[in-house]
Amino acid sequence: MTVDSILEKDLVGNEWLTEEELRFLMTVTDEETLQKIYKKAYEVKAAYVDKVAYYRGLIEFSNRCIKNCLYCGIRYENSKTERFDMSRDDVLKMAKWAYEHEYGSLTLQSGERTDEGFVDYVVDLIRDIKKLSNNELGITMCVGEQSEEAYRRMREAGADRYLLRIETTNQELFEMIHPKDALHSFETRVNCLKSLRKVGFQVGTGVMIGLPGQTLDDLVNDILFYRDMDIDMIGMGPYVVHHDTPLGQRALELGIDSQKGKLERVQLGLKMIALTRLFLKDVNIAATTALQALDKLGREKGLAAGANILMPIITVPEHRAKYLLYDNKPCVDDNADQCKECLTRRVMSIGDRVGWKEQGNSQHYKKRIVK
Ligand code: 5AD
Ligand code: SF4
Repeated sequence: MTVDSILEKDLVGNEWLTEEELRFLMTVTDEETLQKIYKKAYEVKAAYVDKVAYYRGLIEFSNRCIKNCLYCGIRYENSKTERFDMSRDDVLKMAKWAYEHEYGSLTLQSGERTDEGFVDYVVDLIRDIKKLSNNELGITMCVGEQSEEAYRRMREAGADRYLLRIETTNQELFEMIHPKDALHSFETRVNCLKSLRKVGFQVGTGVMIGLPGQTLDDLVNDILFYRDMDIDMIGMGPYVVHHDTPLGQRALELGIDSQKGKLERVQLGLKMIALTRLFLKDVNIAATTALQALDKLGREKGLAAGANILMPIITVPEHRAKYLLYDNKPCVDDNADQCKECLTRRVMSIGDRVGWKEQGNSQHYKKRIVK
C-alpha cells in the first residue's frame, strides 16, 4: 500500500477509502505527502459539498457549567472564571445582527445546566430567534447532555441541529479526562447522541485531537464512530491547554505544550479533517477556533484540508474573554463586525466563497431523510 496508490482511487467519484487505507493514511507525518492528502480531500469537498464555507454565528450565552471536565477552563470548580449569563435581549440583539448581516445560521453555546429554568430559557430563545428571522436562520444547539424530553422541546421550538462532542471514543481515555462520577459518563454521552437522532436533529459530534495518551488508532476509531453513528456534522479540533485545569497542569508537566507539541497537534487536527472528508465525503466539517488558537492560519488551513463550516464568534466583546475553554483563544479582542470581515478574507484566500443567507444543512442529513 502506498499513499499515491490510495489517492489514485476515484474518491471524487464512486470509490471509497477502506478502513485499512484509512489506518495507513493516519500514520503519514511527512509534510509534502500530507499536502497531497489535503489536496485530495479538498477535491472531494468541492464535489460533495461544494467550495462554500457556511457560517454559524457563535453566541456563547453563558459560561456557567455543572460539570468538571478536566480539560476545560469553565469547569465548575474553576473559581478563577468570572461567571456570566447573557440577557435574553442581548442574545436576541446578536441574533438580529447575524440575520441582518446575512448569516445563514447561528450556534447557541453555553456550559451545561439541566435545571428547568435553563431549558425553558433556551427553548424560548429558539422560538424568538426563529420568529425574528422569519424562520430563515438555521439554529445549531450546543448545550450539552440533556434529557430526551429537553432535546425534543428544543427541536419542536425550531432548532435544526445539535452538536455534542464525544470528546474521544476510547472509553478509558474518556475516563481519564473526566472525573470518575455519574455526571461524566461515556455511556450517557452515546445515549444522548441517539436521543438527538431520535427527536429529529441533524446530529453533530467530534473529538479533541492530541490529548495526552491518545493514539493514532484512537483517532481512526473516532472516524469509524462517526460512520457507525451516521453522524451528519463534525466539529473537532486540537486539544489546547488551559493552565487552570487538572489536565492542562499535567500536560504542562509532561512538556507536551512545547512549540513542537503544538505544531504536531495542528498537523494531527488537519489530518483528521482531511481523512474524515475522504472517508465520509458528504458530512459538514467545521474548521474550529481551537485550530486557530495553535496556528494563526489554522482555520483557513482547515478549509483547504476539507472543512466547510466556520463559526465566527458574535458574542459581545464584554463577555468574550470570560468564555475561555482554553488558553490563547483567538478573536477575544474583536467585535462581530471584525470577525465577519476577517473570516471572509480567510475564506476567499483559499478560493472558497461564503454561503451568505444559506443555511448550509448537511448533505449527509438531506440524503438520509429522503432515503
Ligand atoms: N481544548 C480544546 N477543546 C476544548 N473543549 C473544551 N476544553 C477544551 C480544550 N482545553 C471543547 C470540548 C467541548 C467543546 C465545547 O469545547 O470538546 O465539547
Ligand atoms: Fe462544561 Fe462543556 Fe467545559 Fe465540560 S467541556 S466543563 S461540560 S463547558
